[in-house]
Amino acid sequence: MKKNKISKNWIIKQRRDIYVKQSKIEGYRSRAVYKLKEINEKFKILKNGISIVDLGAAPGSWSQFISRNYKNYKTVSVDLNEIEKIKNVYHIKGDFTDELLQKKIIDYFGSKIDIVISDMAVNTTGNKNLDSMVTGELSVEALNFSTKTLKKHGIFVTKIFMGSSFNEIVKIAKKKFREVNVFKPQASRKDSKESFIICKFLR
Ligand SMILES: C[S@@+](CC[C@H](N)C(=O)[O-])C[C@H]1O[C@@H](n2cnc3c(N)ncnc32)[C@H](O)[C@@H]1O
Repeated sequence: MKKNKISKNWIIKQRRDIYVKQSKIEGYRSRAVYKLKEINEKFKILKNGISIVDLGAAPGSWSQFISRNYKNYKTVSVDLNEIEKIKNVYHIKGDFTDELLQKKIIDYFGSKIDIVISDMAVNTTGNKNLDSMVTGELSVEALNFSTKTLKKHGIFVTKIFMGSSFNEIVKIAKKKFREVNVFKPQASRKDSKESFIICKFLR
């Protein structure tokens, strides 16, 4: 399909999408917020007073959700893109796979972290296998970072795409965490290969 046809279809879908409408009403920057909300309702991952890393955070709806609903937390949001300021959220702009950036996150907290959530995804190319593979590499990077930096009872959540790397990532996650659940929120588009894994209790 040609690129301008893809973007026309995307615009039509966006206009019809109830989550897009709802996010505008509620003042969230992205419909992605409803995915985090569902994950949180089902798996109870967020609470007051915790340290949180939000990876692939732009435009910022997940961090907005944390900022609006929780108290006394310490959150770092990371993205390749700039994020408009969110109350009580420290933003680091850059490539998460960069070791120096990861060190900045570690230094900011100065101790082990409660939860790492990742919605990182590369710009889609239209080739679903390639997109799944490259985003899978980001998930594995986030998983490795989590195993080094999380507290023993810490939680790791990441987006993964069905495709060649899916089973492999779940397998690695199960080696590192005692509880691993795969979950596709209602807010995740039906035609998207996206799911999330929710990992608890480091081995
Ligand atoms: C689906 S969006 C995230 C939406 C976000 N959760 C929200 O609630 O607004 C995916 C994001 O991942 C970011 N991303 C992709 N690769 C990245 C990388 N290597 N390092 C940091 N961010 C990355 C993209 O820039 C993009 O903003």
